[in-house]
Amino acid sequence: MEKQETRDGTSKVRAYRRHAPESQPSSLYEPYRATLRRAPLKPLVVLPHTLSEITGPVFGRETVSEGDHDLTRQHTGEPLGERIIVSGRLLDDHGRPVPHTLIEIWQANAGGRYRHDRDNHPAPLDPNFSGAGRTLTDKNGAYQFVTIKPGAYPWQNHENSWRPAHIHFSIFGPAFATRLVTQMYFPGDPLFAFDPIFQSIPDEKARQRLIARFDLQTTKPEWALGYQFDIVLRGREATPFEA
Ligand SMILES: [Fe+2]
Repeated sequence: MEKQETRDGTSKVRAYRRHAPESQPSSLYEPYRATLRRAPLKPLVVLPHTLSEITGPVFGRETVSEGDHDLTRQHTGEPLGERIIVSGRLLDDHGRPVPHTLIEIWQANAGGRYRHDRDNHPAPLDPNFSGAGRTLTDKNGAYQFVTIKPGAYPWQNHENSWRPAHIHFSIFGPAFATRLVTQMYFPGDPLFAFDPIFQSIPDEKARQRLIARFDLQTTKPEWALGYQFDIVLRGREATPFEA
């Protein structure tokens, strides 16, 4: 981290370590058609970190209510689908826990349908599932969500294109420079090889960091399957952004 007090009481800014380039999605990846329209045409300009990147935005406890982490209890009935528990730790680039920071998720329902005006996939909406939740990490950087496993869904990228099942994650971390928006996948998905969003990350090891691990320890008997998904903000081992 990245802000140090000096002897005269002033703050000295140290830059966060940068990502390994191959561990992040390519801004231009032809199989992912949207990147053809939005990729920068000129080389990026690398800016040094300044104080503004290590101050805010910081979201406080008042934005999260008890129960916001449980997407299966937001309506009068239970959503359809396979109940799951997603747990993990939020770590910085030195492996230290990142406590008391906001994690938000959103996802499709078990049929692969988002509750969104622009989702016209002909799969049913679930009246008992909205698909969004949030929580704060505890003092050890740990978090947990209860939800249902999202379904795969088709998209318009190419002929017969389907997204692997995934949960979107948004994390603020302690500073603007630690902001992360990404997607968590499920182990063994047959769609990985055909998904240009997943494949747009050149480094195979970095891609694997987006796949949760099935975990019998957090699986609750007669209730829900457990998955572990640790997230690293910044540095060489950072969890990749979504493309
Ligand atoms: Fe999605």
